[in-house]
Amino acid sequence: MTTLDAALSGTFAIGGDLTVNRLGFGAMRITGKGIWGPPEDEAEARRTLRRIPELGINFIDTAESYGPYVSEELIGEELAPYSKGTIIATKSGLTRTGPDEWHQLARPEFLRQGAIQSLRRLKLEVIDLWQLHRIETKTPRADQFGAIAQMQQDGLIRHVGLSEVSVEDIKEANKYFKVTTVQNMYNLVSRKAEDVLNYCEANGIGFIPWRPIDGGNLELTSAEFKAIMDKHEASASQIALAWMLKRSPVMLPIPGTGKVKHLEDNVAAAAIQLSDAEFATLDKVATQAR
Ligand SMILES: NC(=O)c1ccc[n+]([C@@H]2O[C@H](COP(=O)([O-])OP(=O)(O)OC[C@H]3O[C@@H](n4cnc5c(N)ncnc54)[C@H](OP(=O)(O)O)[C@@H]3O)[C@@H](O)[C@H]2O)c1
Repeated sequence: MTTLDAALSGTFAIGGDLTVNRLGFGAMRITGKGIWGPPEDEAEARRTLRRIPELGINFIDTAESYGPYVSEELIGEELAPYSKGTIIATKSGLTRTGPDEWHQLARPEFLRQGAIQSLRRLKLEVIDLWQLHRIETKTPRADQFGAIAQMQQDGLIRHVGLSEVSVEDIKEANKYFKVTTVQNMYNLVSRKAEDVLNYCEANGIGFIPWRPIDGGNLELTSAEFKAIMDKHEASASQIALAWMLKRSPVMLPIPGTGKVKHLEDNVAAAAIQLSDAEFATLDKVATQAR
């Protein structure tokens, strides 16, 4: 029987002091269609959340905009008080007007209100990892980054992360606060963030790849890929997660699901050890598939 334990993915210390098992959970999918409203099967979403600590997962990514608020509310209701060592990472910087509608908003007062309300929904006294969902284009960067630094000084948030940023963005933000994580889209077949990942690895910044299993749609039909799946008796998603975990020690994948079975399938990937040759083959076939 496959061992289900996120601890097998190894650990990473966010900001040097918050150690988590590297394979985490993305909580965007415990919401309704278009990431709007409650999930279709709320009982199953709640069961999925309750299963998380049992599987050794202690790193959960969410955002006030998921639902909006639904994801944070369900996490607070099902998991607080949290198991020791659990880190909830949330975000602000996007506002919602309807299903699949997302708008950047990072004015200082919006970010601060967001953090205070996230604390209440998540039933926390401090947000261990707070992430700016997007650097907004209309508000001056100095205002956004300054507001974040102030929230940190005021003890609302402990560590700060950014999302969908370039290396230059990270360097600029670092003048205001220490960037401890970066969350960019990245998976076996979508590798635009390779330079950012390399920068994060060189600087001890956690890299949180969003859409790590390509929305559950990884379709690599090559014989070489299938042979690796067969050898490890694993699905394409599991192989993709194992590949990412081997790609970098700062990699913190957060596959998202609202289903217990899929959560368990994803955690099983932590037990898969790819050889260097398999890693290189997967790199090659994924590059060809792009
Ligand atoms: N920073 C950002 O801008 C940003 C953007 C998007 C997402 N995120 C974060 O990244 C996390 C992951 O991204 P994501 O949810 O978009 O993509 P993902 O993790 O690559 O894929 C999630 C999708 O795959 C399905 N799935 C999950 N596990 C599966 C399995 N074992 N077998 C088959 N299907 C499976 C899920 O459906 P079911 O629910 O049916 O399992 C869901 O539709 C999110 O939850 C969120 O926390 C961040």
